[in-house]
Amino acid sequence: MKICVLPGDGIGPEITAEAVRVIQALDLKFELEEALLGGAAVDVTGDPYPEATRKLAREADAVLLGAVGGPKWDNLPREQRPERGLLGIRKDLGLFANLRPAILYPELANASTLKPEVVSGLDILIVRELTGDIYFGQPRGIENRNGERYGFNTMHYTESEIRRIGRVAFDAARKRNKRLCSVDKMNVLETTQLWRDVMIELAPEYPDVELTHMLVDNAAMQLVRAPKQFDVMVTGNMFGDILSDEASMLTGSIGMLPSASLDANNKGLYEPSHGSAPDIAGKGVANPLATILSAAMMLRYTFNNEAAAARVETAVKKVLAQGYRTGDIYEAGTTKVGTKQMGDAVLAAL
Ligand code: IPM
Ligand code: MG
Repeated sequence: MKICVLPGDGIGPEITAEAVRVIQALDLKFELEEALLGGAAVDVTGDPYPEATRKLAREADAVLLGAVGGPKWDNLPREQRPERGLLGIRKDLGLFANLRPAILYPELANASTLKPEVVSGLDILIVRELTGDIYFGQPRGIENRNGERYGFNTMHYTESEIRRIGRVAFDAARKRNKRLCSVDKMNVLETTQLWRDVMIELAPEYPDVELTHMLVDNAAMQLVRAPKQFDVMVTGNMFGDILSDEASMLTGSIGMLPSASLDANNKGLYEPSHGSAPDIAGKGVANPLATILSAAMMLRYTFNNEAAAARVETAVKKVLAQGYRTGDIYEAGTTKVGTKQMGDAVLAAL
């Protein structure tokens, strides 16, 4: 069982180090190998997704990623930017299904900017399509036309792309509370009219799942108005990017949320939903829990080891119950700890 570890940029190396310690403590027969992605890779090779990384990632059963990006690389040509490395590995490995759970741990109810009664008990799963849509559409670019600059991108989906992510979402809903809300913008965009049509066509295969539809602007509003109405949400790449950041804040901190990006055979890339947080990088204060919880998702989805996944998740719940908090989730009366101390606490709880 091979895991490719990509620490990446910013806080990436600090948080992946803690997740790696947790994985190693489980004493399962994992072989871990590290490689470069993002700005760290650009600095060394000039390429945000270099050949050596591609090779390791393709050979591995799973990839654990920290985060990529930072101001240092923002002015590079687009194909050298760290984000390109992330989009490149997602596309290269065919990771079309992005699962982003948003769970509110009872201990963190006060960390949310929403009223506790609105978010307590929250448990949503956002299923985001990850290798299509306007993110990868051609043609794209910035050109000079008629004497002025002209920027353009292409939103597109094939029905097979929609069907395969739809199936992932229906299957996920089946294992949860059997409610699936598909999010689109069919009142304006043809691509998402097709999205809705295909979801409706799939529904008869899943008679036990209740399918509803919501326009993305309304979904953004409902997520802060009454988020507990949702069980599983499924949407395209760009809407999913936006809604998953929004959903993450319902739980108090984006520092708590893991994610899994899966191919058709459950090979996966696991990363926290948050970014590289360059402002706090290298200070030892970042919250490693989202990355540790991403490792738990890896155990569950790629290695089919529910017991080990649950063990890690239980350890995380325990350290929260014990009152350990990194700065992002700190409140008076709890114990403020740094990245490594949080890792130590999870190891002790394991
Ligand atoms: C995410 C990120 C990425 C995305 C960026 C870094 C390219 O925001 O994983 O949500 O837009 O997919
Ligand atoms: Mg995002």
